[in-house]
Amino acid sequence: MSLLQVNQVSKRFGGLTANENVSFSVGTGQIVGLIGPNGAGKTTLFNCVAGFFAPSAGTITLGGRSIAGLPPEACARAGVGRTFQIARTFGSMTACENVMTAAMLSQRHVGRARERAMDWLAFVNLDRFADKPAASMTISEQRRLAVARALAIQPKILLMDEVMAGLNPSEVREAVDVVLRIREYGIACLIVEHVLEGIMPIADKIVVLDRGSKIAEGTPAEVSNDPHVIAAYLGDA
Ligand SMILES: Nc1ncnc2c1ncn2[C@@H]1O[C@H](COP(=O)(O)OP(=O)(O)O)[C@@H](O)[C@H]1O
Ligand SMILES: [Mg+2]
Repeated sequence: MSLLQVNQVSKRFGGLTANENVSFSVGTGQIVGLIGPNGAGKTTLFNCVAGFFAPSAGTITLGGRSIAGLPPEACARAGVGRTFQIARTFGSMTACENVMTAAMLSQRHVGRARERAMDWLAFVNLDRFADKPAASMTISEQRRLAVARALAIQPKILLMDEVMAGLNPSEVREAVDVVLRIREYGIACLIVEHVLEGIMPIADKIVVLDRGSKIAEGTPAEVSNDPHVIAAYLGDA
């Protein structure tokens, strides 16, 4: 059954069309990769799904309920969690406090919010940083911290924007492990990723955008052999 349904979504900024008639779905507990060259419209589409932009046209539903045009807080309450391309963590706050800011949205009791935050920190393998300031963590650790914070709002689907960019191979493996654990937990993942070695082996489905439009959709194997996709990536390089 499909959880997220993006249907004929377009987003225009003045004369520029960042997304044009994009349709795809994400099933419950599925990992879907959203890939494409720079400027293809991946982040814009994320922003439409997460409520940061209202689509210019089209519909977006989560569990059958329309979320297009809702503000970010309402999309989050409906079950859309997200991380940002530039990891936003509060540097002077501890890792635990960072996750607590999100856990407190659904759990007003500070002690229980702290417990829940600790659980999510352990989930992303960062419990040892609980009492350390976020600023003391590496980029890779801060990205996982941002994932823990997004998970603490208890989303049905988690949108991750380039959480593997710039990581070394062992850090990519760690990020991949976290994504697999999220799927096991029953949360769907929509992942924008330039690091194809990270996303291709684990995705149930890949959606390819180029210049705002969807140019391919299928299994990682299908998409990697698609001449349109190869041409789009060669054109990028
Ligand atoms: N807030 C905005 N205002 C105007 N143009 C934007 C805005 N956000 C993105 N764009 C434009 O939309 C296009 C797609 O950008 P983006 O979604 O960031 O692509 P990607 O994430 O695939 O690299 C680009 O041409 C970009 O300049
Ligand atoms: Mg982007």
